[in-house]
Amino acid sequence: MRARLASTILAIAVGLSACATGPAPGPGKSRLDPAAERGQAFAQRRCAGCHTIGLDDGGASEGPRFRDLSRRYNALSLQKRFVEVSQHGTGMMPPVTFSTAEAEDLLAYFSTLEGR
Ligand code: HEC
Repeated sequence: MRARLASTILAIAVGLSACATGPAPGPGKSRLDPAAERGQAFAQRRCAGCHTIGLDDGGASEGPRFRDLSRRYNALSLQKRFVEVSQHGTGMMPPVTFSTAEAEDLLAYFSTLEGR
């Protein structure tokens, strides 16, 4: 909890200083909300080795692309699927354990991939 709070404060501090010094993000760079941003960072660390997690096709292709998953499942069924793969893996995918909070962040990130 404490570490999480600290990282939230850090994120806010970084955000503020970016506002103060850097140029504003261009119109093409839409800002993600904090949960989606954490989900994206988590996916980058833990999933991107096997899945293409973003909107481009340049990533790993051992598993299905995340943007395809966001089309195949709705939020509820995706959450169930996360619990299953987290605990048991699926097919060629080994179990990759993550917490409920991390799963929620992932879902927030997945929702940003929808309809694109
Ligand atoms: C070691 C490689 C590897 C890693 C790391 C990995 N995956 Fe996978 N994943 C796969 C493969 C391969 C499949 C396809 C499994 C199959 O159908 O045989 C898969 C399938 C899935 C599916 C099921 C898709 C479906 O059609 O139901 C989900 C959901 C999923 N991965 C989520 C994740 C998430 C979330 C992470 C990160 C926390 C992750 N994966 C990390 C290899 C990986």
